Amino acid sequence: MKAHINGIDLAYTDQGRGTPLVFVHAFPLGKAMWAPQVQALSARCRVITVDLRGHGESEAPLWRYTMDQFADDLKGLLDHLAIRQAVMAGLSMGGYVLFAFYRKFPDRVKGLVLADTRAREDSEEGRAGRFAMAQLAYKNGASAIADAMLPKLLSQASLHGRPELVQQVRAIITATQVSGIAGDLMGMAERLDSVPLLKAIACPTLVIVGEQDTATPPADARLMADAIPGARLAIIPAAAHLANLEQPEAFNRAVDSFLESVE
Ligand code: MLT
Repeated sequence: MKAHINGIDLAYTDQGRGTPLVFVHAFPLGKAMWAPQVQALSARCRVITVDLRGHGESEAPLWRYTMDQFADDLKGLLDHLAIRQAVMAGLSMGGYVLFAFYRKFPDRVKGLVLADTRAREDSEEGRAGRFAMAQLAYKNGASAIADAMLPKLLSQASLHGRPELVQQVRAIITATQVSGIAGDLMGMAERLDSVPLLKAIACPTLVIVGEQDTATPPADARLMADAIPGARLAIIPAAAHLANLEQPEAFNRAVDSFLESVE
């Protein structure tokens, strides 16, 4: 489905009934990464997934992208769907977007799931890496970005033993337009440090991390879980950065029991 929000068409899915649960994807993926969550969790709640601007089937304007703009788009989608409050779940860049969303619209958040993400801003080297990757996308396209990102997204066991999963992730990445990839990278490079926000997060929060995540390691997850009042932490064994795709059952169980506590 599509909704016209903040001047562009955004693609989303909306399945199931009950508590709204909105999934926000990672860089440089799209809503398709949430297929195992839609399948399992839409039986118990209303699951919404969205392609952020620049991704999947949403429009990808060649313009400045920021975490605040993504947050405004999400708020526009909630308004479009007449949802006052939702449980918001973001993985990696999706988590960065949710920090921006919480800063701007805390009363729209019933609960937060922060998966394989971090509150810290980029280091100087991190920022330099973003600009190098944007150049790579511009010169060589999304398939070069898939080559660079796959080893950061999946565990060694998946990279070598689950070709269909590797292919699935590659296909989602290569469906992302270069304007979106470059826009994300610049937006992530200039995002705010969210560490000072953590102690002010007043809604129920679940932090999830793949045990083998090297992109946003368990230490980052512990920092968030320790600082957010009352937050829970779930560490997913045998998973790296895309824990929701590598170990969907364990990931879904953690989200399911969190939803029970929020409801
Ligand atoms: C992501 O998965 O969204 C990215 O790894 C985030 C990042 O590069 O910081």
